[in-house]
Amino acid sequence: MKILIIGSGGREHAIGLKLLKSRHPVSLFFAPGNPGAEQIGQIVPIAETDFDGLIAFAKSEEIDMTLVGPEGPLVDGIVDTFQSQGLTIIGPSRLAAQIEGSKQWAKWLMKKYQVPTASYEVFKDYSTALAYLNSLSEYPTVIKADGLAAGKGVTVAQDFNQAHDAIKECFLDQRFGDAGASVVIESFLKGEEASIFAFCDGKTILPMVPAQDHKAIYDGDKGPNTGGMGAYSPAPIASDSVQKKVMERVFLPMLHAFQSEGIIYQGILYAGVMIDSLGDPYVVEFNCRFGDPETQVVLPRLETDLVDIFLAISTQTLDSISLEWNSDSVVAVVLASGGYPLDFQKGFPIIGINPASHPANVSIVHAGTTLAAGQVVTNGGRVLSVVARAPKLEDAIADAYSSVDLIEYTGMYFRCDIAHKALR
Ligand code: AMP
Ligand code: GLY
Repeated sequence: MKILIIGSGGREHAIGLKLLKSRHPVSLFFAPGNPGAEQIGQIVPIAETDFDGLIAFAKSEEIDMTLVGPEGPLVDGIVDTFQSQGLTIIGPSRLAAQIEGSKQWAKWLMKKYQVPTASYEVFKDYSTALAYLNSLSEYPTVIKADGLAAGKGVTVAQDFNQAHDAIKECFLDQRFGDAGASVVIESFLKGEEASIFAFCDGKTILPMVPAQDHKAIYDGDKGPNTGGMGAYSPAPIASDSVQKKVMERVFLPMLHAFQSEGIIYQGILYAGVMIDSLGDPYVVEFNCRFGDPETQVVLPRLETDLVDIFLAISTQTLDSISLEWNSDSVVAVVLASGGYPLDFQKGFPIIGINPASHPANVSIVHAGTTLAAGQVVTNGGRVLSVVARAPKLEDAIADAYSSVDLIEYTGMYFRCDIAHKALR
């Protein structure tokens, strides 16, 4: 089976690594991929935004199934475009992907179908938003650009000044362009966050095992948010009873919500949930795709054949699948470029990433890497994730960091406390 994976991050490399374990013989193609993906498949130098180029390739190569990693192409309707050409592609349609592409639409849907989330207001102009901020008596408050903003559109404002800066950025500076033309201001949720993904075919929704991401750049969850500096699964905060509540209060109502709105949601639904001190989940955000780096820690725990799952999503027969998981712990430590999430330099040679020099329970997953004169060099903010799997969490953490010690490049930065929260 020929499978095309769209995207170039760690998530896409990790999906590829899992697909190779399928009982179906698979040939992998990555557009545009990265040097890690190149070790396990063929690189197709077509940008994820070039739908015509991707379709022409899928037809000429007779690709059996296309998978989409990142949100951008999904929100822009890649699934609709492929399907209009009779091609099999896994992911939500443009309408369904609004769940990530428009925060106000996501909030509206959650409110209408009583999915627990922070209370909110939507603003379309600066002066109305400012008047609202002036009326607020409680901080923190959370300001969100409506559309996709590469993870930079959310401000948890500790006081009026920070909140004011955030609405100015959206409305006056137009930092996010159209994505900031509407702004959601919502109440601050207290608790601990977990990421729970689900496979959905429009009729059946099957949650995956929970993971926890470390969004902040510095140890102790300090400093600005990043795309994610590390992850682990299982996540003790998302106990069996929390998972049951997430199914009953979030996933099943969302499936019903999509169906009632006439939207067939086929793909991955990612719920970022805040779990409060009573163990009650509140949705912080939905994404229309797998998370990165959470995918790197969730998929190694999946025992069910991932190709069978994707086939079942495309034929709406997910009800015939029962997901099996192993009880191992998996930890991913992200290696970033010095300076990330602000400015950073690229092009530094990376040493120590040959899979053969790491133990069998460790994978070196590529993200911001590229080849320059035959040498793998840094090419992004998040460069690699080092993923270790072991029966015990302590061992997975130790093995991940032992492998991190073997890797070197100029400016390499990583957090030293990934998954330590789960040991407590
Ligand atoms: P989002 O892109 O909506 O997930 O927001 C990015 C991050 O901001 C989340 O992962 C949370 O850490 C934080 N955040 C967003 N909304 C809230 C909220 N209502 N209360 C507390 N923290 C939030
Ligand atoms: N790790 C957060 C995300 O993928 O959105």
